[in-house]
Amino acid sequence: MIITLDGPAGSGKSSVARRLADELGFRFLNTGAMYRAVGLLCERAGTDLGDADACGRTAAAARLAQDGDRLSVDGEDWTELVRTPAAGAAASAVAVHPPVRAALVALQRAVGEAGDTVTEGRDQGTVVFPDAALKVFLTADAEARAERRRLELLAAGRDVPLAEVLAEVTGRDDKDERRAAAPLKPAADAVRYDTTGKPLEAVVADLVALARERGA
Ligand code: DC
Repeated sequence: MIITLDGPAGSGKSSVARRLADELGFRFLNTGAMYRAVGLLCERAGTDLGDADACGRTAAAARLAQDGDRLSVDGEDWTELVRTPAAGAAASAVAVHPPVRAALVALQRAVGEAGDTVTEGRDQGTVVFPDAALKVFLTADAEARAERRRLELLAAGRDVPLAEVLAEVTGRDDKDERRAAAPLKPAADAVRYDTTGKPLEAVVADLVALARERGA
């Protein structure tokens, strides 16, 4: 069974998806981390982030592995490395390229085919798993999303002013929504859920209930 969680930056997708997967005993797939890793790989190789074919080759050759919450590249743990705002910006830049998306979608489907999965990203319900048993589109006010991201960064030891995080988050949403390839949007059959001001546990409890209704 596949459960998809899509939504804009900072809507709480990762925390909710991780907890939902734990509650249901499903595996958890964080697809944003894959785009972040490819963005960083391209930057490190000096590849022009606007070059679709070159970025696509990097994505196809990347040896990405996800084990629960951990992401490794060529056997090296990149979990923390990919969480920076710079990695988010690089991810959003390379995510516009169809060859990059094709490579990562293939990896994502392979994970989904291996067993019960909660997957989160931007296109999981629309493109990657159109037949998912439950599709959720998480939203939240831009300020609430920026504040959430700011606290995550702070927990990782980086004190970034709220205004800067807000600009980064809204800029990235805009780019993700306007791109031609798999833009950020709810699937027609997605359940929309607004997390503004809601404690994580309440969101998780609601989604566990929904998942159970769908047979999880
Ligand atoms: O969820 P995140 O902030 O880690 O995602 C980083 C970027 O990767 C996001 O701005 C757009 C891109 N992305 C995507 O295009 N498709 C996905 N399924 C996941 C992320």
